[in-house]
Formats: sequence, C-alpha cells, structure tokens
Amino acid sequence: MSAPYWEATLVPTGVEPPRSWVAVDDTDAGALSLDGRWDFRYGRRADGSDLGDFVPDAITVPGHWQLQGHGQPQYTNVRYPFALNSPHVPEDNPTGEYRRSFAVPAGWDGGRVLLRFDGVDSCARITLNGHELGVSTGSRLPVEFDVTDLLSDGGQELVVRVHQWSAGTYVEDQDMWWLSGIFRSVTLLHRPADSIRDFWLNADFEPATGLGTVTAEVDAPAAVLSFPELGLEAELTAGTASSIDCGPVEPWSAERPRLYTGVLRTAGESITVRLGFRRVRVEQGQITVNGNPVLFRGVNRHEWDARTGRAVSAAVMATDVELMKANNFNAVRTAHYPPHPHFLGLCDAAGLYVIDECDLETHGYLIDEFTSTPENPVLQPEWVEPLRQRMQRMVERDKNHPSIILWSPGNESGAGPAVDAMLEWVGRRDPSRLRIYEGDKSSRHVDVYSLMYTPHEKVRALGEYREEPHADAAADEHRRTLPFVLVEYVHAMGLGPGGLSEYDELFATYPRLQGGFVWEWIDMCIDPGDGRWLYGGDFGEELHDGNFVADGLLLPDRTPSPALADVKAVFSPIRVDLANVKDGSIGVHNRHEVLDLAEFTIAWRAELDGECVFQVQEQLPPLPAGESMELAVPAGVLAAVAPGPAIASVHVRILSGAGLEVTRNAAIVARPADHALAADGALATAGSALLSGAELERGLESLWGVHSLSPRLWRAPIDNDRSFSWQPRDDFWRKAGLDQLTHRHENGPEGITIHSTPPGLEWSLVTRIAGTPLPATGGATGGLELDITQDFTGEPPEHLPQIGLDVALVDDYCQLDWLGLGPGEGYPDTGQGNTFGRHQAGLQQLTTPYVYPQENGARAGVEWARMSSAQGRAVELRASRPVSLALRPWSTEELAQATHGFELEVGTDRHLSLILASSGVGTASCGPGILDHYALGAVKQQVRLQLSPGRQDVTA
Ligand code: GAL
Repeated sequence: MSAPYWEATLVPTGVEPPRSWVAVDDTDAGALSLDGRWDFRYGRRADGSDLGDFVPDAITVPGHWQLQGHGQPQYTNVRYPFALNSPHVPEDNPTGEYRRSFAVPAGWDGGRVLLRFDGVDSCARITLNGHELGVSTGSRLPVEFDVTDLLSDGGQELVVRVHQWSAGTYVEDQDMWWLSGIFRSVTLLHRPADSIRDFWLNADFEPATGLGTVTAEVDAPAAVLSFPELGLEAELTAGTASSIDCGPVEPWSAERPRLYTGVLRTAGESITVRLGFRRVRVEQGQITVNGNPVLFRGVNRHEWDARTGRAVSAAVMATDVELMKANNFNAVRTAHYPPHPHFLGLCDAAGLYVIDECDLETHGYLIDEFTSTPENPVLQPEWVEPLRQRMQRMVERDKNHPSIILWSPGNESGAGPAVDAMLEWVGRRDPSRLRIYEGDKSSRHVDVYSLMYTPHEKVRALGEYREEPHADAAADEHRRTLPFVLVEYVHAMGLGPGGLSEYDELFATYPRLQGGFVWEWIDMCIDPGDGRWLYGGDFGEELHDGNFVADGLLLPDRTPSPALADVKAVFSPIRVDLANVKDGSIGVHNRHEVLDLAEFTIAWRAELDGECVFQVQEQLPPLPAGESMELAVPAGVLAAVAPGPAIASVHVRILSGAGLEVTRNAAIVARPADHALAADGALATAGSALLSGAELERGLESLWGVHSLSPRLWRAPIDNDRSFSWQPRDDFWRKAGLDQLTHRHENGPEGITIHSTPPGLEWSLVTRIAGTPLPATGGATGGLELDITQDFTGEPPEHLPQIGLDVALVDDYCQLDWLGLGPGEGYPDTGQGNTFGRHQAGLQQLTTPYVYPQENGARAGVEWARMSSAQGRAVELRASRPVSLALRPWSTEELAQATHGFELEVGTDRHLSLILASSGVGTASCGPGILDHYALGAVKQQVRLQLSPGRQDVTA
C-alpha cells in the first residue's frame, strides 16, 4: 500500500512554478477574493471517513478551525506534539474539509485562470469541480494552481481538504501554537493573454557615485518598465536580465525608505511596481547598506492576533509596523516563517530592514545547541529538494522587496545538507542580499555569524574576535571574518528584560557587533472572545509549554508592556545627556546610520513642582550621523526655573519631522533646601518623644490607614526567576524560605521591632521602626517621622529578590503622585524609558497585567509621594533616600498564587510595597540571568520617612 499523500508529499504537487507575489490592488488583471464564509465539516481521520455532512457557511476563511469551535489549540515550544516517526503522523489527525462555490467574473476572456492559496496549515488536497488540482505543503508559503481547463460553464465548486498533521509537520516545529486550516487568503486570479508571469526588479545603489541601476528580469512578452519620476522607459526582453541605468537616485534605507513607484506593462497587464535602490554588502567585516554600517535595533515578529491566531488582518500588520517605527526599531526578523507578503510591503514603505526567514524548524530533533539526532529531517536526503524548494518559494515570492536585506533558511534546525542546499541555492539566485542562519555554528554557508541569547561577556569576546575557535579550522577562519548579529536576545517574558543597556553598550563599542533582535514582539495568547488571555494548557492539552508562549513586548491585546518604552529609550537613534544642563548645555549624540538632525526638533520644558512654567521648541542643527555635540540650553529655560521654593526640572523631548517622539529626558536642576530629608539625619525629635510601639501602630493606623506591616524579602516570582529559567532564582529563594517568613512583632517603649525568620532556619531579618510625632502646622493634623532599619542576623542567603516592607492598608487608595522615576515601572536593570520628575498614576496604571501574574508595577527612585484614597484620605511620604513603591490591590501572596491575570480581582484591599532595595530582573527565562552588579545581597537598609496628612487631590 502506498503512503497516503499527507505522509508522502514533501513538495506541493500540481502547482505552478513560484513567482513574485503581487497584491490584487497592484495589477489591473482581474482577481476574485474567495475569502469569507465557507461550508465546513470536521473529523479526526485524514482519510475523511468520519467527516459527516457539510455545514453550510460554517467557517471563516482566512482563519484557523481551532479558533472557530473545532478541535483545540495546543502550544508546544521545542517538543513535537507526537512521537517522532517521520514521515508518519498520528491516526488521530484532525481534518477539515472546506467547500464553497463561486462564479468566474464576467470579462475574464482569454489567458489563464490561477487559484492562489497564500497559506494553508499544514497540508491540503484541493479539488475543483470534482478534479483534483494537487496537494499543498509548506504552511506559510503560497501555492498556485492553473484551473483554466477545469472551470465549468456554470458555477464552480472548490473543495479543500486540510490536515492538521502531515509529513510537513516534521519541518514546522516552531515555538508557537499548533493551529490549522486555510489561514491566509484564497484568490482566483485572471492572467490575461500576454500578462506578466513573473518579474524581478533588483535596484542597486552605487554609494560612490549616487547612481542607481535596475537589473530587471521579466517572464513576459514585450514588457515595458516605466518610472516617470526617473525619466525611465525601458523595453525588457523576456528570458534575459536587463541592466538599466537610472541615473542619480535617492537611496533606500530603513531611516529614509525612499521608494520610486512605476509601472511594468505588457499588452495584457499593468503592474504597479516599486523600487528601493540600495546596496547590501559585507565590507571590512561589517554589514553595510549603501556603504554605511548597520546596527540592527530589531525585533522578532510572529504573526499574531489573540482572536484569530496567525490569520492577521492588514490593519494588524499596519499597527505592528507603525508601533515598531514609533518605538525606534529599524529591523524585524520574520520568526520563523515567511510572513504574509503584505507585511513586507509595509516594511518597504515604512523603513524596516527585514530578515526574511523560511518555513523551517526541526527543534525537537536537536539534542542541544550543537548536536541533533540522526533522524533530523535536515540530514535526510529526501528532505534536501523539498527544503531547497521552500527556500526558492520564499525567495521568488518576496524578491521584489527592498526591505529584505537578509535571507534565512529557518530556525533551530541544526546543520545538514538540506540547509546547505537552501543556502547555496539562494547564494546563487540572489547574491545581492546576505544570508544568515544561526543553527549551523560553523557559519560555513552564511555571510553573517549569528547566535541567540549569548551572555554579555561572550558577546564582548565576539566583538574582540576572541570567540572560542570552531573545531574545523577552515570554518573558524571564515567565521572570524564575519560580522556578528544576535538573532534573538533579551527575552521579553513577563517583567523585564534586564540587561538591554549593557548589550547596547557592547554594540556601540565593537564594530563587529551589529545589534540584534529582541525576542519577541507580542505575547501569543489566545483570547477566546471574553478578554481572557489563555496560554498553553488552558485548552485541556496534556502536552504543552504553559505561558512560555507569552514573551512579547506587547501584551496579547497589543497594549505595550513597560518593556517597550525601555527598548524605545535604549534603541533611540538620538541620545540626550542632561548631566550639565544646570551649566547651560546638554549633550546630543546622533546615533543614526544616515540621517543628520536637521529634520528633528527639540522641545524644552521647564517645570516648577511639576507645573510647566516655560516651553520652547527649536530645530536641531544638522549634526551628521555618528557625531556628538553640546547644545546650549535656551536662556528662558533656566531663567524660568531659577532656584525658588520648588523643585525645578528641565525636560526635553526630541521629535521627528513627522512629530513623533524619538526620545525624552529630564533632570532636576534645583530643589528647595529643606526638600530632601538628609539621608544620615536623626529623627527630628529623637530621644525626647520616641513613640512606643503601641503608639506608633495607632499613629500609623489613624494617619495612613495601616492595617499591618510585614517585612518582605521575597517577590511574586517573575518569569525570569521561575524554575524553567536559565537561572531559577525563585527555587533558590524558596529553599531559603524567603516566601515563608514568619514574623514576631515586639512593641517596645522605643518603637516596633519585627523579627522575620524562615521556617527551620536560624537567620532572621530584623526590622526596627522608631517614630516621633511631627508637629502640626497651620491647623493641619501632625504627621509622623519614622526611622526604619532592616538588618540581618545569622547567615542569610547570598542573593535576595528585595528588602522592604509590605504595608496592608484599610483605605482603598486609588492614586499615587510621586517625585521619582516614571511614568512606568522600574527595577534596577529596567525602566530605561523612565525619566526623573513628578508623575501621577491611578491604581490600574500602577500595575502591569502580565499574562502570568508576577511582581510588577514598582515605581523606582521615589523621594516624595502622595497616596490618595477614594474616601478622601491623602498621605504624603518624604523619604531620606530614593525608595521604590508598588501600590497594588493584591497582596504579594495573592499575586504569587494566581496563574492568570483574570484570576485577580480588584476589591477594596490595598497593599503598598515599600522596597528599600531590589534585585535586577535579568532575562533568564531564556538567556543570561541577573548581571552581578544588579544582584542584591543581604545588606542592611535604612531610611527615614516623614508621613503627613496630604492635600486630597484625586484626579485619576
Ligand atoms: C529560541 C527560539 C524561539 C523561541 C525562543 C524562546 O530558542 O528560536 O523560537 O522559542 O527561543 O522564547
């Protein structure tokens, strides 16, 4: 018995040769969208024996059936969802059959008619009017069938039987949901007589002369290429590549994505075409575009929409590109498959360098980073040609996009002849772009050396060409000539990533290091329609990888997580240094690749106690790319904040020509003499009026609404600390009993002492709180001044997540105003997007709804704060040195116990974490842990706090 097609077919059958993808709006040839509602039936046997009857209008195309009521989504990272027995797949093979009828539009006379599927996951047998057209494989690549001779005179009936599992599944083991079906558009295309079958307009820019050349290949009779803007009208000959001089042109780059729009015309068809002139090279060990070394400030993007999975609308694609540009990204890696081609058009227009990655991953066959099992498909002869064809299908589809400057054969598949064949083929087909592949550590067939999640010190070694040699001397020699890029780094899972600034410094220091791509763009959770964010295991799957699917810079609904602001700040192509602002100047550093600063403006604002007292905007001078300068502070700015009884601050924002904020910064230039509590001062009236413990408790309760005080060393585990992480610090912290401290309060004549001890261990944290009343002023009730010290006895653990106090409050505080870092959360190695100043946030903004609940929301560097409650209570705090405050409607334990954000309800309880010292967060959920200088040891803490009744001022 021969193998069924879903286990046998490694290449699509019955299809047209691959060619450039043309959007239906870009051609005057007719097109009929077959998207919409289709009839559907579903079963679990690939032979269709249990399919039942069609249900009319039962499913939306494009879409996944698991998100439309059939079968379940399943999420696995590395593991295949079934036993490895290639090319066999389980008998239980969810299968959906789609059916729809359509009529061929009138006027499609002559020529041919093609049927195009832009993406079907994972294998489909397609039948038109009872004739089998062929079989599609390669889930994220298009297939086209010539249906001309199969069209009937009346209506047409198209039937597509799709299988969840197929031989192709063995090469599509990407870290993502297993989701099936016709998930991209289906289109019927008229190809008139004498239309254009394929074309490639490869536009080169010569940096030395500024001249552009187009190498044009066209598969069409008598085609004419015209670009009126370039004064160009050229006749092209089919079958030969014409080289067309275009004269002086403006080059295309991510910073200045200059596109020229023209027309490619034959007797049968006109196609709108776009040229981006650019030259990509490796020169002196660096990737250059138009002769300029590139620094990738990139991100890995999966196609994702929480409601529709990998079926993403044009609007979602546009949002992604817009958000990437607005947040200072200049590059995107299409992890780990060719995206919908419309996305690439958006990258051409907006200016994003693209690594276009083929639909290949065999991660489940890898034993470790360097070795794979012998069964790995990339080692099998029968996979060489099918995978080479996948590369060809991607490259032919996408070759006209100037934004693509690197081709990648896939992700995490190890090395082998099939990958070599993909790289060799593209090297011949398109020498105008570079090749990158992380999975073959020898880098034999690539132009760029790449790794992922490499710790900082190893990256530094790479920057200094001091990396460990490869075992093969020839490969090592070649690899040492290559530029280096981190195809994935800083894993944006939950709170974090930490360590981004240190990577950025390395990239700035060593020319060989040309940046990297943050993992990843969006949390790939599924919203079943009610706003809940679900992850692996939430659909009853036994085999799954939990919330590891949620590791993006955007929350599942595309709300930016705090990390996005941090990345934006670190990636900013313009840096503003305010260290000398008081002396009348600031430092400006232009980190662009080509742009000078003439088109940017700087907006200055002077504030007194957070109120704007002066503002002015001015054009920046044309500082060339790569250079720095001192810029004078406009006279009015400093005059407006001349020392007075207020906190004086200067704020700057740099705006692009389009008015988008590129970066911002702020500095305090003066503060009232008595504003800060002296760090080393003693309690105001120490000795004379120390309150007893009981008095202090009563005072705290009546002034602040304090219900209880619990010293705190533990934090609700963040993804970077949890047991799957490369540095599972939470396991260590739990073993040290940090999550189970028991407290013994002693109220003495001189205040409160709290001994906090883990079960069965001998060390303890001793918290001493002494207090004195503060005199009332101007008819207001007086406050309290506290002196808090926290110290250790015995042998506490070497690393701690934090040192501080949790304050349970009886009032439902709903707003925090503070002087410190903001507006977002900040931990020692995050918060680069924050600036120092006056900030205000309501309760909801004070917490970050990470998919998996964890520590979040702490505002750092706080010197003064006012907490306001819905009942009208307001309390002001002044601290003798910066502290962190987190105001949340949940206790640390509640936060730690919840496994989904929707389990946490907002009641009237309020908990304030007063954090005197905090550990960094690192990026160990996948990558290096907390850098040494951000780790926290058991170090004595002390702070003086003044608490006073505050002015009630709730605006949130
Ligand atoms: C990488 C892989 C990505 C993703 C990431 C962890 O190894 O290439 O696809 O799995 O780890 O989130």
